[in-house]
Amino acid sequence: MNKKENMAIDFQDNVMILSTRKYLKRKIMCSEPKFRHYRKERLHILELLKHTVDMGESNSALLIGPRGCGKTTLINSVLKELSSIKSFKENALIVNLHGLVHTDDRLALKDATRQMQLENVVGDKVFGTFAENLTFLLDCLKAGDKKRSKPVIFILDEFDLFCEHHNQTLLYNLFDIAQSAQAPICVLGVTCRLNVIELLEKRVKSRFSHRQIFLFPGDTSSSEQPTSAFDDRLELFQHLLSLPDDENVNGIEQQYDEYPPFWSMWNEYIKSLVNNLTIVNLLKRMYQMDVSETSFRIFLAVVVSTLSEKHQQLEVNDFVEASKIFSQDDKVLMLEGLSVLEMCLIIAMKHETEIYEGEPLNFETVYNRYIKFANQNSSIQSVQRPVIMKAFEHIKNLEIVMPVSGMNSKVEKEYQYYKFLLTPQQVMEAVKNYPGLPTEVSQWSLSSIQ
Ligand SMILES: Nc1ncnc2c1ncn2[C@@H]1O[C@H](COP(=O)(O)OP(=O)(O)O)[C@@H](O)[C@H]1O
Ligand SMILES: [Mg+2]
Repeated sequence: MNKKENMAIDFQDNVMILSTRKYLKRKIMCSEPKFRHYRKERLHILELLKHTVDMGESNSALLIGPRGCGKTTLINSVLKELSSIKSFKENALIVNLHGLVHTDDRLALKDATRQMQLENVVGDKVFGTFAENLTFLLDCLKAGDKKRSKPVIFILDEFDLFCEHHNQTLLYNLFDIAQSAQAPICVLGVTCRLNVIELLEKRVKSRFSHRQIFLFPGDTSSSEQPTSAFDDRLELFQHLLSLPDDENVNGIEQQYDEYPPFWSMWNEYIKSLVNNLTIVNLLKRMYQMDVSETSFRIFLAVVVSTLSEKHQQLEVNDFVEASKIFSQDDKVLMLEGLSVLEMCLIIAMKHETEIYEGEPLNFETVYNRYIKFANQNSSIQSVQRPVIMKAFEHIKNLEIVMPVSGMNSKVEKEYQYYKFLLTPQQVMEAVKNYPGLPTEVSQWSLSSIQ
């Protein structure tokens, strides 16, 4: 191959890599047109909304799941599907309210009025109560035959925040209208709070249908089926980083027929990453720390951003580097806020747990280990037992230690057993990050023998 041809290939590669970067970034950051998983839950919501619009039924429901599990995406995909139905599109009114935006009920109602396009009708009218105002709005929506008003779908995102509003007036009125079927409305609350029902006042709660739809990544929030949930994540990894299976990316055609097409080489390589142990372990660790798909997508976007003319391949190390931004361990961060004394107790707990191989510990053992250390180091200021007890209590309140179940309440608190919930690595990480920790203390953390 002559020099000119070589340069042409280089040029071609450069163009390819830049358009690949652009394509992948868009794919990663833009919401999927297709909603994955949760078929049953999605159908449930779809049916609810359909019933309100088609049959004039009133409904209320809560969609609950951790942040980034796809709640908003689910609702949008349902609305998109429904809006292709003529009767739905012409009939239904959708009011979107958001707990972070509509911080009080008056604000929420004002925006609802705007979204129902009733601002002109309301004009300067003064209403006696919130309920009157809301009923007026719904009455305005009466269809041509005046028999029933237009169906309205209220979507309340970050629903738990609406529970904090004075007297829960909006929620009370919406649920009241839905329950008494005064007008065809569907109230759909979206939240991450599992126990959201407990936030509802009694009179509000009694008007809610108690229809709760849960989204749990991998069908289970606990560790019962971690593999299947994680397999989905691996699949998504491969899907998001792969190029479409045709010979052009963003219209750039493969001109060098004698070489395997760029995209198939790329996709083969991505496939090999999914079988790479370092990658799998890294993704697993990240998944255990945060199941949110949003953070996962941002992580991939960071990795993809490293592609350039000079860096044409996603190396394993690129993933490792990018993961560091996302692997900030909340527990480790929390430890940085502790006092030196509290850090010392954490170190004592680490030694106890290591020496006794994960056996539970109690205040007395931790106290003794700490005192032994303090006595051997004249530079460590001695503190009195009640102060140490207080520090221990604080650690307990932060749930760094957890009472062992089946604990005997008759046992004095110094002798109650606790399980230490940090790993030695987490403690060492916190010791490393703790600004101004006395050298003796950090040395002690390395070895229990002084
Ligand atoms: N089941 C899913 N199907 C398609 N995309 C999903 C799914 N779950 C999450 N996502 C993606 O993850 C991101 C976060 O989803 P989002 O709906 O905003 O979560 P939530 O509202 O539960 O916090 C979005 O980019 C979305 O495209
Ligand atoms: Mg959301």
